[in-house]
Amino acid sequence: MRKTDDSPLDSKRPPESPMLVLGVTGSIAAYKAADFTSRWRQAGLGIQVIMTAAAQKLVCPQTFCTLSRHPVITDLWTMPDWQPGHVELAMRAAALLVMPATANIIGKMAHGIADDALSTYYLSHAGPVFVAPAMNPRMWAHPAVQANCRILAERGVRFIGPVAGPVACGGDGVGRLAPVDEIFAVMTRALKPRTAE
Ligand SMILES: Cc1cc2nc3c(=O)[nH]c(=O)nc-3n(C[C@H](O)[C@H](O)[C@H](O)COP(=O)(O)O)c2cc1C
Repeated sequence: MRKTDDSPLDSKRPPESPMLVLGVTGSIAAYKAADFTSRWRQAGLGIQVIMTAAAQKLVCPQTFCTLSRHPVITDLWTMPDWQPGHVELAMRAAALLVMPATANIIGKMAHGIADDALSTYYLSHAGPVFVAPAMNPRMWAHPAVQANCRILAERGVRFIGPVAGPVACGGDGVGRLAPVDEIFAVMTRALKPRTAE
């Protein structure tokens, strides 16, 4: 896995607790994940960001690196250690949040496709998984997307949104990313008990 700086996956580095892995994908709502990262970090909680290639077209990895105070994982193929990074990270992660989640990553997660750092990480992750979709309302309503969401929900993946409202590509309907406040509240509720451990 390639990072923007030295390795956050270095086994000599003291682990943070609890560590949220945030997967950012190529939705126009990706910039809202930067706000989430800032708030999460300000709450004193650990976060490791993984960005897809499409997400990096929309928001710069350096933004997440600075806000999370960790190098961002942007590629699968540079391994900092003897152990593949996604395996080592999975051992430390308390939860995975994919925010925003594209139709594409939802499909890949539902069907076990592991062709980049985030989708490969998902298959290595044994803890709770949260998905906050964001897409055009017609994409969200598509039977393929709905079927993929059902597959994931049946496996225990928890969905946050999407909500109704105006979307960036024009129009109005269900497909908008849930408010950052709501996502933040769900995630802190889900992980808070672990902070007391
Ligand atoms: C400007 C722009 C905005 C996009 N926004 C979305 C979006 O909100 N939701 C979505 O599912 N796809 C969106 N896409 C399409 C995805 O980026 C595309 O399906 C990509 O392959 C997703 O890759 P990823 O899931 O690996 O990030 C957008 C594409 C562009 C060019």
